[in-house]
Amino acid sequence: MTAARAQWGSRLGFILAAAGSAIGLGAIWKFPYIAGNNGGGAFLLLYIGFSLTIGLTVMLAELALGRAAKLGPVGAFRKLAGKKWALFGYLGVLTGFLIMTFYSVVGGWTLGYMAKAVSGDLAGLSREGLNQVFTGFISDPWKPVGYHGLFLLLNMAVVLGGVKSGIEAICKYLMPGLFLLMIGLIVRALLLPGAMDGVAFFLVPDFAKVTMGTVIEALGFAFFSLSLGMGAMITYGSYLDDEAKLVSSALWVIGLQIACAVLAGLMVLPVVFAFGFDPAAGPGLSFITLPAIFDHLPAGKWLCTLFFSLLLVAALTSSISLIEVVTSYFIDEHGFERRRVTLAVCLVIFVAGIAPSLSFGLWQDVKPFGRSIFDLLDYVTSNLLLPIGGIAISVCLGWLSWPVLAKQLPEELPWLTTALRIGCRWVAPLAISGVLLNGL
Ligand code: TRP
Repeated sequence: MTAARAQWGSRLGFILAAAGSAIGLGAIWKFPYIAGNNGGGAFLLLYIGFSLTIGLTVMLAELALGRAAKLGPVGAFRKLAGKKWALFGYLGVLTGFLIMTFYSVVGGWTLGYMAKAVSGDLAGLSREGLNQVFTGFISDPWKPVGYHGLFLLLNMAVVLGGVKSGIEAICKYLMPGLFLLMIGLIVRALLLPGAMDGVAFFLVPDFAKVTMGTVIEALGFAFFSLSLGMGAMITYGSYLDDEAKLVSSALWVIGLQIACAVLAGLMVLPVVFAFGFDPAAGPGLSFITLPAIFDHLPAGKWLCTLFFSLLLVAALTSSISLIEVVTSYFIDEHGFERRRVTLAVCLVIFVAGIAPSLSFGLWQDVKPFGRSIFDLLDYVTSNLLLPIGGIAISVCLGWLSWPVLAKQLPEELPWLTTALRIGCRWVAPLAISGVLLNGL
């Protein structure tokens, strides 16, 4: 390769792009409903705990690995740990592909809900009405599949724009907008009668509800929400220049992601309790409950449209990081041309994503291992493949190429270097394996 590797335009640009990868459907769509399924407060604590310990360790390891190797996961593992380790890079590429198949389906839902919001279909509905609109929409054999395709087309447009002009530009302007809108919605939601029950459910931990399943979900969600364990941060790190500060960047990304998840919880769960929705309603929770709050706001129809548009953007900035791992593998390792690879990858994701989409309707009785196709893909990727990738990454840096990470840490903080060494060598691999083994 003769061309210089693309780089981020600025330090802020990188943080925003990495935060853009992290913040997405995970925080706003997934977090409220798995917190709802897992008893609220205790889950939040576990999630924050995992993010700041194992999450921080694996994120630093990924960024350092990518920056040192200047390659995606397959090449980076091969270069720094040896040929056999490239296997974990391939696993990462596969994981990214599998996540994309259902992520894009939910991305399509946001598009569908944008359309519904504009046309006023979501206004003035009762609780049952909102439930019916959602169930009717996702069980339709055609529409969600069409929107899933449209979502992928949007991804293609951004990825083809290249690293800097595409990803960075979007993140810089629209992510702050999303935060502002969420804060506004929280204020309104908290004023609803009964909202405080939701706040209590979300913030007051009830450890009686914690099972091993809860712990696995929290660990899996920490990986999923921080985009860790499959090489997305290795790839983003590979576009990072040698001056950038890893530790503060990683802390920013994790802090923003936790803030976003907390905001999403505070936005959705009070509405759930105020209107008597079921907190364990599953993947539809945000889609079912949020339109209810817009009915209580002036120009609710337009704010609702704006909200789903910003959610779409947040989903896009995340999904492009998943697609980028898959496409840059074919570009870096096989010398394919970006345009063709992107087209082919999106096409394959489209076809594969039809199955999880149909698993809400036509194929709802197909239940391999007792889960719907959608649930199975989500469970296996978040709770198994990403943590396994996390073990590989921390072992690789902790044992096989420690100097690579040590060199990139600030010299004035020797305790941090020691802590990370112990973290990469022992704590992360053992804790993750412990959780996984207990779960199986
Ligand atoms: N973190 C994103 C979200 O919460 C999803 C995501 C993007 C992701 N890239 C990833 C998950 C890489 C795992 C690995 O919406």
